[in-house]
Amino acid sequence: MEKDYSKYFTPSLKDARKRLSKETDIVRYELKESQFGIGKHLKYMIKTYGCQANLADTERISGILETMGYSSTEKEEEADLLLLNTCAIRENAENRVFGELGRLKPLKKTNPNMLLGICGCMPQEEKVTARVREKFPYVDLVFGTHNIANLGTYVEQAIHSLERVIEVYSKEGEIIENIPIKRDHFKRAWVNIMYGCDEFCTYCIVPYTRGKERSRLPEHILGEVEELIRDGYVEVTLLGQNVNAYGNDFTDRSYRFSDLLLDLHRLPIERIRFTTSHPRDLDDATILALAHGGNLMPYLHLPVQSGSNAVLKRMNRKYTVEDYLEKIKKLRTLVPGISITTDIIVGFPGESEEDYQATLDLVQRADFEGAYTFIFSPRDGTPAAKYEDITSAATKKERLLELNKLVNEGFLRGNKRFEGKKVRVLVEGVSRQRESMLTGYTEHNKIVNFKGDESMIGRVVEVNITKAFTWHLSGEIQK
Ligand code: 5AD
Ligand code: SF4
Repeated sequence: MEKDYSKYFTPSLKDARKRLSKETDIVRYELKESQFGIGKHLKYMIKTYGCQANLADTERISGILETMGYSSTEKEEEADLLLLNTCAIRENAENRVFGELGRLKPLKKTNPNMLLGICGCMPQEEKVTARVREKFPYVDLVFGTHNIANLGTYVEQAIHSLERVIEVYSKEGEIIENIPIKRDHFKRAWVNIMYGCDEFCTYCIVPYTRGKERSRLPEHILGEVEELIRDGYVEVTLLGQNVNAYGNDFTDRSYRFSDLLLDLHRLPIERIRFTTSHPRDLDDATILALAHGGNLMPYLHLPVQSGSNAVLKRMNRKYTVEDYLEKIKKLRTLVPGISITTDIIVGFPGESEEDYQATLDLVQRADFEGAYTFIFSPRDGTPAAKYEDITSAATKKERLLELNKLVNEGFLRGNKRFEGKKVRVLVEGVSRQRESMLTGYTEHNKIVNFKGDESMIGRVVEVNITKAFTWHLSGEIQK
């Protein structure tokens, strides 16, 4: 029997665009009593795609499932519940997920009780949910980014009544505190400081899939970090789609991102990082806060997207190349040695050869130490998907390849400046390339591989850098 709730809870990109009020409800999470123990003797597995927001959501989904009694597995064929936590930012990310759904289908034959689900950003798109409903009848669970907290109920329904559960809210989300978190790492943690995005860059689906901007209260954030410190964590990464807009939605207080950084600066934790920043909203107060150094790391990811003012305007980025360079200059003056990376989109509709050359020019002038580069991918429901686009796919590819060459020179240059220097590395684990090597990140967010003892994992150690490569540094432990 199949009962489908989708007619009640179908996502709508049009509804998702609406921003009704600035007020945000804060709700406390509670697992229903009937849901404790449901997952006893059962195993779950989550495959996560996309950005840090999804990684953090996966830790919450795991937390909920484990309080229900589930235990985790790394083997697909052992999973009684297999969830794909998806990303909608570009089309190829979505195609990979549809491919995975096809590949996973036979698992349901070997384990007929297995539940297969998809969650995250993709179900927030009405076309995706409609396609899953019609073409993937063996998918048991579909939920979005706003209703993770109801997971217990969905799993209960799916197990007890063999019903298919499809529920995706488009409405403005609330903030749900106290969802249990099963952290992936024992020394490095994600801390959400806000959810959603109100920027509406014309190419981006995120404001639709993650709803309106809503900031967590500072006392909740600081409380979470204090608890992490008690648990022995040494690094925290603050998460938000646009952390520089933190606090703009508070109606009862004036407390902004720079205030949060300064409050965190006083706490006894080794490292504070954050992502992602928006160049327009990055203010002087934040740059001045970063200048305090200490646990505020000398690294900033500041997505520029394009080096052409005409393209930036059509992207609705609300800054010019000159504004951007000015902020970088301030950063470099007040935070000497800061490492800056960026995101760049090539082949945005109407990007001329001249616009593209302006991007290359900016990459050189800004002296980026790395960049994530993408070819524009039209996303249904966003304004840019309707813009006229006459540039051929081949040209876009050529542009990307040439840009990557330049960007890689920046990666290498950024690494080279540490040759012969002593750096502090938070040891993350054993290197994936070579088992005898340890790996970790420097304060400037550079990867370092070095020989060392596994007992160093989780500690900050001093390493002498012997050689710089494009993607990593090699070093020797300081004796
Ligand atoms: N096409 C290509 N790249 C995109 N990004 C966001 N939306 C799109 C899109 N439609 C890129 C931006 C953003 C990063 C996370 O992904 O560069 O900063
Ligand atoms: Fe997307 Fe722009 Fe918001 Fe970043 S700031 S999530 S690119 S809309």
